Amino acid sequence: MNDNLRDAASLAGKTALITGASSGIGAASAVALARAGATVIVHYNSQKADAEAVLEQVRAAGSSGEMVQADLGTRDGTGSLCSYASARAIDILVNNAGSLVKRTRVLDLTPELWEKVMMLNLTSAFFLSQAVVGGMAERKSGVIINMSSVAGRFGGGLGALAYSSAKAAISTMTKGLTKEFAPQGVRVNCISPGTIDTGYHRSFSTPEGLDGVRAATPIGRLGTSEEIADLVVFLSSDHATFIHGQTIEINGGFFMA
Ligand SMILES: NC(=O)c1ccc[n+]([C@@H]2O[C@H](COP(=O)([O-])OP(=O)(O)OC[C@H]3O[C@@H](n4cnc5c(N)ncnc54)[C@H](OP(=O)(O)O)[C@@H]3O)[C@@H](O)[C@H]2O)c1
Repeated sequence: MNDNLRDAASLAGKTALITGASSGIGAASAVALARAGATVIVHYNSQKADAEAVLEQVRAAGSSGEMVQADLGTRDGTGSLCSYASARAIDILVNNAGSLVKRTRVLDLTPELWEKVMMLNLTSAFFLSQAVVGGMAERKSGVIINMSSVAGRFGGGLGALAYSSAKAAISTMTKGLTKEFAPQGVRVNCISPGTIDTGYHRSFSTPEGLDGVRAATPIGRLGTSEEIADLVVFLSSDHATFIHGQTIEINGGFFMA
């Protein structure tokens, strides 16, 4: 996003909580929101040093912020971040934390793994939204952005059934939140990235698989975290006031709804 657009998106005076902001899309979104003027809360789970580096970039962008740790794959971790969030006036919540956790075929999927994938990719996003949306409604202003995936549109690759199901459900959850809270000034949308060049793929994809994605993508490359972050800033801004309940596909033409 060029500086003129970033200034026009001014989020000065807003406080944004971005989950999973220690790397990839979340980290880029934290820095982009800071550049647009928001105070940024950098949530992380295991990578404290990476979260500190993101907070440094937030400060270098002229903004301020803090860090908070929570394991959103567990009920206790989700509860602690909900308590933290409900005690603050959060203007922008980006439910970005997520992971496939473990590529697992149907016959090997245990109840424990299913619950963890759902907790991390769907349930925690719901309860975090619940924790902040009441305050947003009272202030008649707020933005919630949920991170889905193109996997939620086509079922994902083999071994991603639980993850892709959660990502489809978060899109539906976005619509439900919109119906209840748009009348009270809260704008809820969902971003559905295609394949974005982040650490996620070092864990869950093969080089050959990524070559296949490039070949099937009209623009012939993977996306960058910054390209998703630009959409996060736009959806957070007053340029998006008539966009409600949408799942926006951003994938270089890989999947066209
Ligand atoms: N990359 C893609 O191609 C792609 C495509 C579609 C959708 N997405 C979605 O975009 C979001 C960000 O993905 P990314 O590619 O940026 O991945 P990433 O670089 O692997 O970052 C994942 C983030 O989620 C956090 N996280 C992971 N497990 C967690 C847990 N149990 N509790 C709390 N936080 C946890 C990580 O925190 P720590 O590192 O501190 O543990 C990290 O900050 C995810 O929801 C992902 O599903 C990604």
